[in-house]
Amino acid sequence: MKNKVLVTGGAGYIGSHACKALALAGYTPIAYDNLVYGHEWAVKWGPLEVGDIADRARLDAVIGTYRPSAVMHFAAFAYVGESVAHPLKYYRNNVAGTLTLLEAMRDHNIDRMIFSSTCATYGVPEVVPIPEDHPQQPINPYGASKLMVERMLADAGAAHRLRAIALRYFNAAGADPEAETGEDHDPETHLIPLVLDAAAGRRPQVTVFGNDYPTPDGTCIRDYIHVTDLAQAHVLALRELEGAACQGPGPLFRAYNLGNGQGFSVKEVIGMAERVTGRKVPVQMGERRPGDPPVLIGDAGKMVGDLGWRPEYAELENIVRTAWVWHQKHWSNHIG
Ligand SMILES: NC(=O)c1ccc[n+]([C@@H]2O[C@H](COP(=O)([O-])OP(=O)(O)OC[C@H]3O[C@@H](n4cnc5c(N)ncnc54)[C@H](O)[C@@H]3O)[C@@H](O)[C@H]2O)c1
Repeated sequence: MKNKVLVTGGAGYIGSHACKALALAGYTPIAYDNLVYGHEWAVKWGPLEVGDIADRARLDAVIGTYRPSAVMHFAAFAYVGESVAHPLKYYRNNVAGTLTLLEAMRDHNIDRMIFSSTCATYGVPEVVPIPEDHPQQPINPYGASKLMVERMLADAGAAHRLRAIALRYFNAAGADPEAETGEDHDPETHLIPLVLDAAAGRRPQVTVFGNDYPTPDGTCIRDYIHVTDLAQAHVLALRELEGAACQGPGPLFRAYNLGNGQGFSVKEVIGMAERVTGRKVPVQMGERRPGDPPVLIGDAGKMVGDLGWRPEYAELENIVRTAWVWHQKHWSNHIG
């Protein structure tokens, strides 16, 4: 019988790519999603169970039906600006929701979790590339909510022997190279889909927030990681939790950065989008946004060294091209 994995947020952008990676690795992903932001069309590699992570009765029923051996936990709200305006909404969903999920796992004896954490737990970087032992001082409620969950995982590890790996992503980007799933957020705040929308005429222009940063071309530099490489890292992390190294007395909570180790500026991303699409991207210059550091790059050396992660699609061109192929297929079908 195939190993089953409960994938919360499995109808979302990264969760759906993880479901594909799990299926390719021989697991059965059970997507558990309340569809607040997810899409039914994105669930193709296993069953969809519609439910909320805060709904204990629904979780009990789904876990009782499938008896998963592990949980990949993607379900969360992830809009930084909204988290500043509505912090309690974020603590309710991301923290209290996760607490209910962890209690259900404890009571059903599920002792493995891969958690979607974020570089936003670090706050403003003191060194770049950012290592995992960098101080975690989030500057917004979204980042704080993810840090609180990391803390819950560490404590539950010590008390209940929950084995957990938190993966701190930098900017997830790109789409499945076979264009079977991709990014469709509403509202969209991520640079690459916004730039491609502008190239395709689905938006009048893309706004560049600040061009006077201390970077070579004046625009912010970010670390973009291909979503398929990210999904693959989840499978490696799950195998690690299943392996002998995690059965002994050692620490039961670990955290790894997932980034490219190199950054690209906003202008470089726009330039690449123009090359890939063969179209001009209309650009509007805007003011700097408060709290945007000039450079955010992660050091993912620990993931490479410890778990043998080998990103396949790290080139910016691959990221933008796969996103563009998906974008055209998706929007010509008018799904969403
Ligand atoms: N996209 C990025 O660049 C990025 C970077 C760092 C961390 N993350 C984290 O990765 C995870 C996935 O991000 P994404 O970009 O795929 O977002 P997404 O919005 O596409 O996916 C999240 C999914 O969770 C579902 N969901 C939300 N609250 C739920 C709840 N209470 N119960 C059940 N389902 C719920 C949504 O419907 C959605 O399908 C999030 O936890 C996010 O914080 C994303």
